[in-house]
Amino acid sequence: MKKIQVVLSITFFIIVTACNQQVQPKKQEQSIMYEPTPLALLMLKMHGDALGWKGAIENENFQATFPEDYYGIYTVEATDPAVRNEVFIERADQYLASVEELLGVEKKIEQVEKFNLVISACVDCHAIFCQGPIDKIEKLYFADAD
Ligand code: HEC
Repeated sequence: MKKIQVVLSITFFIIVTACNQQVQPKKQEQSIMYEPTPLALLMLKMHGDALGWKGAIENENFQATFPEDYYGIYTVEATDPAVRNEVFIERADQYLASVEELLGVEKKIEQVEKFNLVISACVDCHAIFCQGPIDKIEKLYFADAD
């Protein structure tokens, strides 16, 4: 019984620490330097891009080409290497497809709608794999999509 408890609490600890809103220090390093994983850095860039896109859509001068580095979502090192299961891949596919759709529309009203779908795609993955940043991501939504 004790053993099961230990295993459970270790598992819980891993789940809690593997994905945190804060940048995680690399486990093997004792230093106080925080080193975000490449996936976390990519996420921060995606967040920054989305913020910039939102402003540009508001100002009706949105223009972007598909950021090729987004494909790194499938490959670059993550805090939890086990994160890339089938569901993750499916959510990543949906997210990248939603970005392509946004880049394919020209009217502001459509851009607002497609932009909100991109943010939903972020949240759909985060709801499963990484709840920490959801509040921050949801702030990206256009409040009134009309
Ligand atoms: C397919 C799943 C998936 C999608 C889609 C996704 N994320 Fe993430 N996100 C993750 C995972 C997993 C992490 C944890 C990365 C790590 O620690 O290695 C993360 C981490 C983050 C972080 C925290 C970075 C840090 O400081 O450590 C932010 C912010 C974030 N994502 C924002 C976004 C935004 C904004 C979008 C959409 C534009 C998005 N994510 C789309 C899975 C996803």
